[in-house]
Amino acid sequence: MAIERLVEPTLANGDGEEERIEISLRPTTFNEYIGQTHLKNNMKLAIDAVRKRNDGSTLDHVLLYGPPGLGKTTMAGVIAHELGASLRVTSGPAIERAGDLASILTNLKDGDVLFIDEIHRLRRAVEEVLYSAMEDYKLDIVIGKGPAARSVRLDLPHFTVIGATTRTGSLAGPLRDRFGIIHRLEYYKEPEIEQILERTAGILNTKIQPQATKLLATRSRLTPRIANRLFKRVRDFADVNGDGIIDVPIAESALKLMEIDYLGLDPADRNMLKLMWDNYGDKPVGLTTIAALTGDEATTIEDFYEPYLLQLGLLARTPKGRVVTEKGRRHLQGVHDSV
Ligand SMILES: Nc1ncnc2c1ncn2[C@@H]1O[C@H](COP(=O)(O)OP(=O)(O)O)[C@@H](O)[C@H]1O
Ligand SMILES: [Mg+2]
Repeated sequence: MAIERLVEPTLANGDGEEERIEISLRPTTFNEYIGQTHLKNNMKLAIDAVRKRNDGSTLDHVLLYGPPGLGKTTMAGVIAHELGASLRVTSGPAIERAGDLASILTNLKDGDVLFIDEIHRLRRAVEEVLYSAMEDYKLDIVIGKGPAARSVRLDLPHFTVIGATTRTGSLAGPLRDRFGIIHRLEYYKEPEIEQILERTAGILNTKIQPQATKLLATRSRLTPRIANRLFKRVRDFADVNGDGIIDVPIAESALKLMEIDYLGLDPADRNMLKLMWDNYGDKPVGLTTIAALTGDEATTIEDFYEPYLLQLGLLARTPKGRVVTEKGRRHLQGVHDSV
């Protein structure tokens, strides 16, 4: 990505400080995990059923999807914790060859949870090995080469895959079919983001006034990761420019410095909307054209910029492409709609 965005919902690859803080903020139980009530209730039920059966059966494979920063990785950890299972973490792009997956699978134990992040980026050959592993707990491997090659089936432990993806559309049908539980994570409600901010303030030992919490919640794109990131930046600002307590004036000044507007949009979002509007007005624009306009990858636009702009109704998707809506145009012109 061209510029490092503050509202970028993925983890920055910095000195690892952000990652450390994120880990310290990550809820580990259903009780600590705020919001996503529907998902939580379903998972609690499924986990209780496994516990009650107590016959060695394992939790169905779980697929979590939704925009980045909403708590997919966190939920995988919570599920493993609540199951009392060990968690193995990997990702689609990290598994380069079928052999890599084979060695991960043969090292699992009964009941383990294997978390595969960005599962839509698994390579085809790896994906095929995963099919039979998920379905029958068997691993088909070919030993030798040429005419002497033969295929053997190994038994695998009974494990649970939790897959996470920002988009189910790019997931191969046969892979999708192997998940018994498929769940979409939703954007949070503002009061839930406020709760997350209060929790974060507690863990990081920072005082924040309730009105400032409310203000930050409205700028957080209804996304926990962004809420926590804004919180940290505002906390730095309060330490440098005040007495460390986050009140409304401090929060407002910090947000202004970060150029985050009242909807939580940053300059990159506004720039994209503006380029679309200036060049195409209210006509639909194809994804690749938008990418060419902003200089980003099409997938970046799809995964990072677009979901929240769609959610706000500033952008709409039509069969012919994306359009800036009336609301989007008004936002660009500085009209403050009440939201
Ligand atoms: N439901 C939640 N309650 C509290 N904090 C959360 C919740 N979901 C996510 N977070 C916070 O947001 C951060 C990002 O969540 P993460 O699970 O990494 O998102 P994803 O995997 O969907 O990109 C976590 O480190 C955690 O601090
Ligand atoms: Mg994640």
